[in-house]
Amino acid sequence: MNSKNQSNERLLRIGLPSKGRLAEISAELLNDAGISFRRSERSLFARCKDMPVEVTFLRTDDIPVLAAEGAIDIGITGADLVAESGASLVHRLDLGIGSCRLALCVSIDDPVLDASQLAGKRIATSFPRITREWLAERGVEAHFVELSGSVEIMIQLGIADAIVDLVETGSTLAANRLRVLDEIGRYETVLVQNQHVADAATADRIVRRLEGIVIARSWSLLEYNIPRRRLSEAEQITPGFNSPTVMALEDPEWCAVRAMVRRGEAHGVMERLEAIGASAIIETRIANCRL
Ligand code: PRP
Repeated sequence: MNSKNQSNERLLRIGLPSKGRLAEISAELLNDAGISFRRSERSLFARCKDMPVEVTFLRTDDIPVLAAEGAIDIGITGADLVAESGASLVHRLDLGIGSCRLALCVSIDDPVLDASQLAGKRIATSFPRITREWLAERGVEAHFVELSGSVEIMIQLGIADAIVDLVETGSTLAANRLRVLDEIGRYETVLVQNQHVADAATADRIVRRLEGIVIARSWSLLEYNIPRRRLSEAEQITPGFNSPTVMALEDPEWCAVRAMVRRGEAHGVMERLEAIGASAIIETRIANCRL
């Protein structure tokens, strides 16, 4: 596969995670944004159908450096990996997925109260750069055990006094009898871009399309009927993205309202609307939007 299109210009190259859950989620996101491709088995490249774009499948933790070096123009990876790489990149979009926190953790049996007590202690982590900076801001110097995985068992193995690891649900911590001593940062999956991307117009188009999908996924459309005398209360419950659409009904005492609501809040909003007399309340998922 070469990287030239018919007019002999270089195709815009997107780096996507090659395996794991993030690989599936990223491919689905691009597909929903109309940037579709078919990955043949074991192939590291795929050409997109309707855009001058080529997809390259890479290790998620290599994507920040490869984007900074220009091997890819844009890439999907974790903001934690971007920060840890120290690469100079343009942050284009938070993708609303993969949110996690990076935490300093100790054994639940350890009486330590704060990070300052870890001076001179051994800390196991896959995030030495972020951790070192965070500790330095607090005047703490520690000994680092740098690993690429299984950090959570290092206290039990006796080679670390504390660990710095990602926490999502907290089940890994619980399973290993660990507790959070302090939070170092919060991260999510992001779209990053090389600072000197050649085809900026195509990169911008991709960002706009993905943005439409990301926003659509976090909002729902709510429609309901409400007695006119309760309309102002209803509008306070559903102020909409800009403002709600209000339509007249045949019965002059009633009106119909359409408004966008945060998807995570839809159930609670529906209950509140019902409590003030709304009926025929319908939630519709939004597939795509430009706001
Ligand atoms: C990450 C992280 C923790 C775990 C946290 O590991 O390193 O071990 O997830 O998630 P939880 O709070 O929901 O339990 P991942 O599964 O990505 O694999 P890794 O250990 O190979 O990094």
